[in-house]
Amino acid sequence: MSSHGTPIPMSSHKSGPLTGVANVPGDKSISHRSLIFGAMAVGETQITGLLEGEDVLDTAKAMRQFGAEVTDLGSGEWSVHGVGVGGFAEPDQVIDCGNSGTGVRLIMGAMATSPIAATFTGDASLNKRPMGRVTDPLALFGCQTYGRSGGRLPLTLIGAAEPVPTRYTVPMPSAQVKSAVLLAGLNTPGETVVIEQEATRDHTERMLTGFGASIKTEETKEGRVITLQGLPELVPQTITVPRDPSSAAFPVAVGLIVDGSDVLVPGIGLNPTRSGLFTTLREMGADLTYENERIEGGEPVADLRARFSTLKGIEVPPERAASMIDEYPILSVVASFAEGKTIMRGVKELRVKESDRIDAMARGLEACGVEVEEDEDTMIVHGMGPGGVPGGGTCATHLDHRIAMSFICLGLACKNPVKIDDGGPIATSFPIFEKLMKDLGATILRANS
Ligand code: S3P
Repeated sequence: MSSHGTPIPMSSHKSGPLTGVANVPGDKSISHRSLIFGAMAVGETQITGLLEGEDVLDTAKAMRQFGAEVTDLGSGEWSVHGVGVGGFAEPDQVIDCGNSGTGVRLIMGAMATSPIAATFTGDASLNKRPMGRVTDPLALFGCQTYGRSGGRLPLTLIGAAEPVPTRYTVPMPSAQVKSAVLLAGLNTPGETVVIEQEATRDHTERMLTGFGASIKTEETKEGRVITLQGLPELVPQTITVPRDPSSAAFPVAVGLIVDGSDVLVPGIGLNPTRSGLFTTLREMGADLTYENERIEGGEPVADLRARFSTLKGIEVPPERAASMIDEYPILSVVASFAEGKTIMRGVKELRVKESDRIDAMARGLEACGVEVEEDEDTMIVHGMGPGGVPGGGTCATHLDHRIAMSFICLGLACKNPVKIDDGGPIATSFPIFEKLMKDLGATILRANS
């Protein structure tokens, strides 16, 4: 695992047809929240299907450091004995969130209104990412931040002893910032109000409601106004984590771009705040069908079937960006095999993810013979048609799991192999990626194998 160790160079080779069933792991966003909300409830939360990727395991460790009892029962089953809202103990070691922006930002929110101090750090990628977007609103509750200039980790937070409720308009589309403010509002008397101009993933609102918090969401001219009543007693839950649509994106993509493929990805949530990629692919002409549509845990779910398709480039509506923000890297790969241009606007948030994802994808695609245009907020990929991408490049992954997986997928449909400098970060979100792809028929090699 390269975030903590030696890089793992890999290559992917023209393969196919890819066929079979791809059971992707649990949802990363919901896995983090299950552990954190479980730690803030009184009593035992039971979790099935937790994503056991490095990011989530770092959050589990952090919850133990704040005093919760978190137990791995095996086979994706976990138990969390929570300490209650306001019950976090002061950790006696630094909290290391590894590669995870979601982990660190939500945990900072969760501790910001308790009278304790904690120091947070992460890996080389996380320590470059902006944290002011979370510490600024947390300061409104009375939380103090000390540390590096520019709002980067490592940072020490001193939680507010007498937190004051806050009304905050989130200045960028970010579920992490929204969630941090709502979590800070839990241990604050009165009403905390968060306003977002664009709808972002709503797992925090849905799950906290399930845990017994009172949260009201209203669509107004100002945007989505979310009002939380402070000081609830959170009631432990039994949670089944659905499979991750952001991980499903990879086997779906290879099903569409590798000649002759037919891939089934069962049990994928189609919550509209997460499913923008699948809508986009269907607009591009993808043979992507939703089978066995059903409701599970209150969410729409379907088995996705992706078959090799002739795709056309489209302009992705910018207002859809938040619902597919993690999927632009793999969309840019799929777009490379479409006929014509795919235009992605309103995507500047990609520049502050685990890497600058516009730059990382543009450089790697260019190294493989694809023409890409970019500006601060836009990426345009010039498609080369089915089977039309030469490949043959070496792509830098910048400690970013989704960049690594995207380029591995690219190489499966190119004329020549595609190399990546480091596949280690894939373990943060999709530890079974390599095996799952090989089981579908993909040729993926490690440099020394
Ligand atoms: C996430 C929110 C998104 C997303 C990330 C997970 C979450 O980040 O990119 O992978 O679980 O809340 P932003 O909140 O920065 O948009």
